[in-house]
Amino acid sequence: MRPVLHVFAAVVLSLVVAMPTAAKTPAAKTATTAAHASHPPGAAIASAHALATDAGLEMLRKGGNAFDAAVAVSGVLSVVEPVSSGIGGGGFFLLHDAKTGRDVFVDARETAPESATPASFLDAKGDLDRDRAQNGPWSAGIPGLPAALVHIAKKYGKLPLTTTLAPAIRIARDGFPVYERLEKGYASRRTVMERYRGTRAVFLADGDPPKVGETFKQPELAHTLELIASKGFDGFYRGETATKLLAAVKEEGGRWTPNELAGYRVRERTPLKFDYRGWHITTAPPPSSGGVALAEILQTVSGWDLQKLDPAHRTHILTEAMRRAYRDRTIYLGDPDFVKVPMSRLMSPDYAAGLRATIHPDKATPSELLPGQPAPLEDDETTHYSIIDAQGNLVSTTQTVNLTYGSGMVATGTGVLLNNEMDDFALKPGTANAFGVMGFEANAPKPGKRMLSSMTPSFMESKDKLVVIGAPGGSRIITEVLIGILGYDAGLSAQQVAALPRIHHQWLPDLISAEAGALDAQTVTALEAMGHKVNAAEANWGNLQTVAWDKRANTLEGGTDPRNPMGKAAVDTAPRAAH
Ligand code: GLY
Repeated sequence: MRPVLHVFAAVVLSLVVAMPTAAKTPAAKTATTAAHASHPPGAAIASAHALATDAGLEMLRKGGNAFDAAVAVSGVLSVVEPVSSGIGGGGFFLLHDAKTGRDVFVDARETAPESATPASFLDAKGDLDRDRAQNGPWSAGIPGLPAALVHIAKKYGKLPLTTTLAPAIRIARDGFPVYERLEKGYASRRTVMERYRGTRAVFLADGDPPKVGETFKQPELAHTLELIASKGFDGFYRGETATKLLAAVKEEGGRWTPNELAGYRVRERTPLKFDYRGWHITTAPPPSSGGVALAEILQTVSGWDLQKLDPAHRTHILTEAMRRAYRDRTIYLGDPDFVKVPMSRLMSPDYAAGLRATIHPDKATPSELLPGQPAPLEDDETTHYSIIDAQGNLVSTTQTVNLTYGSGMVATGTGVLLNNEMDDFALKPGTANAFGVMGFEANAPKPGKRMLSSMTPSFMESKDKLVVIGAPGGSRIITEVLIGILGYDAGLSAQQVAALPRIHHQWLPDLISAEAGALDAQTVTALEAMGHKVNAAEANWGNLQTVAWDKRANTLEGGTDPRNPMGKAAVDTAPRAAH
């Protein structure tokens, strides 16, 4: 754990796991009063890489809005964090358009190609072929991120893509300094990545793998980004890039069709909304499981005054709510264009009250008593950024190629590293009970279907404060965002929220995972006495990025996760000409 986390561990987690009795404002607090500013005093951006944050600020200086900044930040992250996300992957963009007052969720999740039937992921013995599920062309869904950039620029932005993608193109062509996570991630995926001709051409261009401090250049990716900037959708999904993508997938033994690429569309969905202790929360709908799980957990724990509980009981109640929500995630959730998700039930405060009634105040519920079938585990790559601009537009984006360096395969001649998002489907149907089988069916692969995600880009608003928040972390994204929300509710600053120590429970395995220092020995002993299994010394996880506007003081702040030394949160209140 980094020193800064040590400092916060004792104080700050005690604020969340032992929340102070902060003065609470009543529900439905969004109406502003004369004491509240109507617009933020400038802009704030937090992302996982300083070059991306700077690119977003550059767009605002050029007269762009938060949506232009989002395209620039997204494009740069795709270049400088290939380990986490890229234009060969997908993402979710939660937007608030200040002009119309509308919230919209742009779903740029990858889709399954026609060739991806469940049988195509089984080996001769009928077992899941993990290599096929996680490496190379079969593991890749049809990318969604380029379509989202084009859609957002056209519908919500003010600047052309030639301007907003210029920083990404420049950095891809001129290069950027390699940092530790890129080098280590490459080392962990090297044997897979070097199977592919296109990957070797990019990552071994100078004869050996990228090393910290070296300049990493991606000229072919720069060219592909230029085609998107000049031709929009057709720059990726038709013509030169599409032809190269199809040829590369075929060369490595996969099967994509021109129609699958040209037929890819983002979906605009209605975000989920619910209230928690006076905060209006706006969050991700299916095919993310994040918003539903977040709503279930927060509505379940709202029956307790968490501030009045000791740390062990507070952790116990949070854990029991997490356990129940993650179990429902597995059973009910999938792509809403393909399966009927019982949303009104899962989002209902009455349903949460029913869950609450099953929680024993002093005893853990063994997960095996809650029937179901575990979901595949998810890795913690992925990235998030948060933006507020001076007009009050908001962007909360989580984007991903799934596991470290995605599929490991760069499509020859494009610089595009393909995702391995197919692994987020339940690729092998379960054989347990009816609920388990149903769960796997909800998230079984089908042509054109989007795989279930945990990405949870969110907004939270009270009378006094507006927050944009999100994080990477695979299945731990949901609890990372949850702990962030509880931190803001406890009155913490954006930076304190980003630094909060983390705990997590996901039903199966039946275990409380905690970052080292998050739970003290006494709390662990008390939790064990209630029947919990606890691993209190896990390595740090997550990379939360958040910005907040205090409407009463009319100040902006940003918080970037101290676990990631490359991140940057910036506030820009320089006066601007009206635009
Ligand atoms: N691939 C991580 C997620 O979508 O949740």
